[in-house]
Amino acid sequence: MENKALLRLEDVVKRFAVKGKKIGEEKTYVHAVNKVSLNIYQGETLGIVGESGCGKTTLGRLMIRLTQPSQGKIIYEDKDISNLSEKEMKPYRKDLQIIFQDPYSSLDPRMTVGDIIAEPFEYQNLYSKKERTERVKELMKLCGLDTIYVRRYPHEFSGGQRQRIGIARALALTPKFMVCDEPVSALDVSIQSQIINLLMDLQEKSNLTYAFISHNLNVIYHISDRVAVMYLGYLMELADKDELYFHSAHPYTKALLASIPNIDFESEPLKAQLKGDIPSAIDQPKGCPFASRCPIVKGDCLLEKPVLKEIAKDHYVACNYPQRL
Ligand SMILES: Nc1ncnc2c1ncn2[C@@H]1O[C@H](COP(=O)(O)OP(=O)(O)O)[C@@H](O)[C@H]1O
Ligand SMILES: [Mg+2]
Repeated sequence: MENKALLRLEDVVKRFAVKGKKIGEEKTYVHAVNKVSLNIYQGETLGIVGESGCGKTTLGRLMIRLTQPSQGKIIYEDKDISNLSEKEMKPYRKDLQIIFQDPYSSLDPRMTVGDIIAEPFEYQNLYSKKERTERVKELMKLCGLDTIYVRRYPHEFSGGQRQRIGIARALALTPKFMVCDEPVSALDVSIQSQIINLLMDLQEKSNLTYAFISHNLNVIYHISDRVAVMYLGYLMELADKDELYFHSAHPYTKALLASIPNIDFESEPLKAQLKGDIPSAIDQPKGCPFASRCPIVKGDCLLEKPVLKEIAKDHYVACNYPQRL
């Protein structure tokens, strides 16, 4: 992609101490994100897919520095934001936003819709009271909400409308980059497409860049330009969506695609369903993280972790034996 990278991750690692916080106790870590490097280009939607617990949310939070990396760099518009303090992050906060899976738990039930959407103005100290009211109305319209509801509370809305409120709030400061963390996973299928279409419209209107997280491969295919596949905190495969869905090379991606109901993206020789359990994110395997479930595993896969290699144009795979379809 010739486009300019808006955000770059370089060897980003995030570990969480789950034991050993007390003095004398041995430290144990969950390895949530392991040495992930990728670029996100201006105006694109990067889909991030993988099973539950593979580090998608942590990666999304790292991208907008809601989480600080344990190692590695996060570079936004050529500025290294990896280790900025909350105060130093403040000017970047308006550019970097997130919407969540469950709009209900992310909206304060005691605040009216108008106050929820205006909250970012408070934080950034923007606009007079009158201007805020105008801006809130504009945002509600933009997100398909009737402005007569401005004084209502979140519980008075349906799931889809609540997600529109969450989107309106995220858009309040006209961000450049938005992480959408499973934004439609809690919604009925019919509502899902409305929210996805809204996000796509907003992207076109405002030249937004998205990282769109989902475990649903159909949703990811619909919305993404490129797709990143994660497993156990590792980036396993990354490519343009059609390349990834029709010419996947990683056995994990193939197994994921084979599990999509109704759609025939999968490869014949590797129609294998995923068997076995995901290894623990605490005791990391020495070799390939996918080795314990891989249908084509070989001896050397257990010894060393495969590094991400470009096997076709803009198509990256971390596998010792990639078989591009
Ligand atoms: N704050 C935290 N403290 C400890 N472990 C965490 C924390 N957040 C996430 N994890 C762990 O990190 C791993 C990745 O989690 P997450 O990023 O939520 O994955 P996903 O969004 O793909 O389901 C999981 O093993 C999870 O239990
Ligand atoms: Mg998650």
